[in-house]
Amino acid sequence: MLTAAAPYPEASPILHAAAEAARLAPSTHNTQPWRLRLRRDATLELAWDPDRHLATIDPQRRQMITSCGCALFNARIAIRAAGYREDIELFPDPERPEVVATIRLGLPRAASEDDLVLAAAIPQRHTNRRPFLDRPVSAAIADQLARAARAGRARLLRLDPAQKSELGWLVANADRAQFEDPRYREELSRWLAPRRSRRRDGIPFSEKEYGSSWPFALHRTLRDPGLGERFGELERDRILGAPMLVALAVDADEPLDWLDCGLALQAVLLRATALGLSASFLNQVLEVPEHAHAIAQLLETQLEVQMILRMGWAPPPEATAPRRPLEEILVVE
Ligand SMILES: Cc1cc2nc3c(=O)[nH]c(=O)nc-3n(C[C@H](O)[C@H](O)[C@H](O)COP(=O)(O)O)c2cc1C
Repeated sequence: MLTAAAPYPEASPILHAAAEAARLAPSTHNTQPWRLRLRRDATLELAWDPDRHLATIDPQRRQMITSCGCALFNARIAIRAAGYREDIELFPDPERPEVVATIRLGLPRAASEDDLVLAAAIPQRHTNRRPFLDRPVSAAIADQLARAARAGRARLLRLDPAQKSELGWLVANADRAQFEDPRYREELSRWLAPRRSRRRDGIPFSEKEYGSSWPFALHRTLRDPGLGERFGELERDRILGAPMLVALAVDADEPLDWLDCGLALQAVLLRATALGLSASFLNQVLEVPEHAHAIAQLLETQLEVQMILRMGWAPPPEATAPRRPLEEILVVE
């Protein structure tokens, strides 16, 4: 990749803006598992934060690194929108595996219309767990999303109606299995933010409630293993009612593939946002190993399925997830 010979004087504010864009990325349980460092040599370092690791649902750090991939995609788009190429090195230091990327400004280049559209979508994008409207998603839109995934070196697989119905059962079973595990309930409860909480991370209750129609309170999350049954049924209804179910799959199941998956995921989510399309995640099914295996069989793919999304049209979510302030995640040398 072409690199500028010396850092530009404007590098620092642009990399600052890239960090701000990274901050808004989606992350598993809204853990925001990233640390950023703006070095004196005009390099922005993106690393995962070991204190924000979900050891129960994500023992390999797969979703943590995928989340960092989403943050990296946002940083890249912010640089492009500011009129530069990006110069990115993935996992640059074998001695520091937590550093997932270093980011520098490349040569100047006029921002494309597309860069500006995706940059504008960054603050607009929110996970939407509501039921989706009974309105189809056209093949042309599905193609645009598939192209976005390919640019991030992942494949977007669209589920057919029979696969969708089978997925509904698998997700419901996965919910039941997860809620039966006290370690799962304990970990989830640490990342559910009660209403009116001042926390700047975690999932706000109202989101996890799927609106206000379903009572889902902290003590029940902690104590009631039967919650998985009810949550699974609700989730299954949402799946069956969704006009489009997709999976993101990559070649292998290593940290670099997880990062690629994050880049592709955010490319798809920002494109969807720009098109007015909502998205919600169904990753619990991949967190239970037997179910992950069943999903690969269901989709008849040799690829590694990393993400499952429900997509469609919906009113905006009731509450949006907060973010930690930039000062908390960015160190400027
Ligand atoms: C790798 C990854 C996995 C996720 N898995 C789930 C999931 O299984 N269920 C879910 O409801 N949300 C899931 N999310 C969405 C996050 O909870 C969401 O991004 C976070 O709460 C921040 O909210 P926002 O996306 O609206 O900004 C996932 C997000 C990422 C990046």
